[in-house]
Amino acid sequence: VEQYLKHDSQLNNRGYSTPEDNLQEPRHRWYFYKEGFSNQLVTHAIEESNLKKDDIILDPFGGSGTVNLCASQKGVKSVGIEVNPFASFLSKTKQINASKLYLKENIDRDFDLILKGIRRRKKSPLLNFSTFSEFSEKEKWLFNSDVLNSFEGGYSQIKNINQTYASLFKLMLINSAMDNCNAKKDGKCLRYINNWQQENFNQDGFIQSFIQHFSIINEDLRSSALNTSAHIYNSDSRKFLQKSNSIFKLCITSPPYLNSFDYTDVYRPELYLGKFISPAENLIDLRKKTLSSHTNVYLKASNFKSSSLLYNKIISDLNANKELFWNSKLVLMVQSYFEQMEGVIKRLHELGEKNSELWIIVANSAYFNFEIPTDLILGDIATRVGWKLKDIHVLREIFKRGSKYSPDVNSLRESVVIVKK
Ligand SMILES: C[S@@+](CC[C@H](N)C(=O)[O-])C[C@H]1O[C@@H](n2cnc3c(N)ncnc32)[C@H](O)[C@@H]1O
Repeated sequence: VEQYLKHDSQLNNRGYSTPEDNLQEPRHRWYFYKEGFSNQLVTHAIEESNLKKDDIILDPFGGSGTVNLCASQKGVKSVGIEVNPFASFLSKTKQINASKLYLKENIDRDFDLILKGIRRRKKSPLLNFSTFSEFSEKEKWLFNSDVLNSFEGGYSQIKNINQTYASLFKLMLINSAMDNCNAKKDGKCLRYINNWQQENFNQDGFIQSFIQHFSIINEDLRSSALNTSAHIYNSDSRKFLQKSNSIFKLCITSPPYLNSFDYTDVYRPELYLGKFISPAENLIDLRKKTLSSHTNVYLKASNFKSSSLLYNKIISDLNANKELFWNSKLVLMVQSYFEQMEGVIKRLHELGEKNSELWIIVANSAYFNFEIPTDLILGDIATRVGWKLKDIHVLREIFKRGSKYSPDVNSLRESVVIVKK
C-alpha cells in the first residue's frame, strides 16, 4: 500500500483537511464545524469525477454537510448520513432555499418577532442543569444565565414564525449563544476562555451576535440559492447503509479520526440548547451509536480478524505492549474502529456503481509511541473487500511536539485515500 502514498501532489498543503476555507463561502459559513474539511477538496473531487445527470454523491459521516452542500451548489444529487442530531440539523438547514416572496415580505417580520422574544427573555430550562449556568453552583459554568434566558426568549418565538424557515432562526440562536459561551472548543474538549469572568457575556452581546448571523444568512439566501437539495438522514450509518440500497457514483467522507475524541461531549452545549436532547436524557445513547473512535463508546471484546496484514501487524504490536497504555480499553478501541470501518467500506463497495469512487479523508494517530497508519490500513482493507487502490494523497503533515505518551512521534499525516470500484 505504501507505494501509493503521494507526498507532493496538487492536494498537498492547501488546507483541504481543515474547515477554515469554509468561513469565506456562502452557506458553508453559517456555522464553524471544527471537525469539518474544506469545501474546496469536495469541489476538486466532484470536478475530477465527470458525474452525469442523476449520479449521486454519498457521505456516510456527513458532519456539518460540507459534501452535501458542495454537491447541491453544483446541482448534483446527494445523500448525507450523520449520527449527531445537531450536526445533521445544521447540514439540513444549510440546504434551505427561501422563496423570493418570503425574502421580500416576511423574513424581516420573523427576525423582529425573534428579537422581541430575546429582549423579553424567558427562564431557561437549563439554568440548574449540569454546568450550564451559575445556578448549577459549580465553580465554572458554560453560560451566564442572561445569555441562556435571552436564548430561551428567542426560542419561544420560533413557533410563531414561518415554519418552513424556522430552523434558520434556530441556527442563528444557537450560534449567538455559542459566541457568548464561557468556553470554546479546543482540541478534544471545551476549554474555559482565560478571562471568561471579566467578559461577562450578557444579552447585549447575544443580540449583537444574533444581528450578525441574521445578516450573513439573509445575504446568502439571496445570493446563493440552490438548484438541488440533498437528502440528509440523522442516523448511525453502520445500520443505515445495511438497510439502504441507494447506489452512488462518488462517496467522499471523513470518518471520525482514531484519536479518542468524543464528539458528542464537545457538542453538549449545542445538543442541549437546541433541545436535540432533553435535560432528562444523557448522552450515553447517542455515544453508543457513534463509531469506536473514542473510549466512551461501549467496547466489547471481539475475535475480528481482518484480511489486512497491515492491520493484523499493528494490532499484534499494540497487544504486545498493552500494559504501557494509559487506558486499558485503547487496543479494543483501535480493533473495533477498524472492524467497523471494514464493515462500512465493504458495504460501500456493494452500494457503489461500476467505476464509482470512494474518497476517505483520515489522519494517523499515535498511542504510546506507536504510529497507527490509518490511511494505509484503510487503503489495505479497501482492497481486501474488492476496491482497487488509486492513490493516497498526503494532505498535510501535522507537526507536533512529542506528547507525554508518544514522545518520539513528532508528526502525523492527514491523507485522502482514493479507491475505485
Ligand atoms: C470528521 S467528522 C465529518 C465532518 C464533515 N466532513 C464536515 O465537513 O462537516 C465525522 C462525523 O462522523 C459522525 N459520526 C460518528 N459516528 C457516526 C456513525 N456511526 N454514523 C454516522 N455518523 C457518525 C460524527 O458525529 C462526525 O460529525
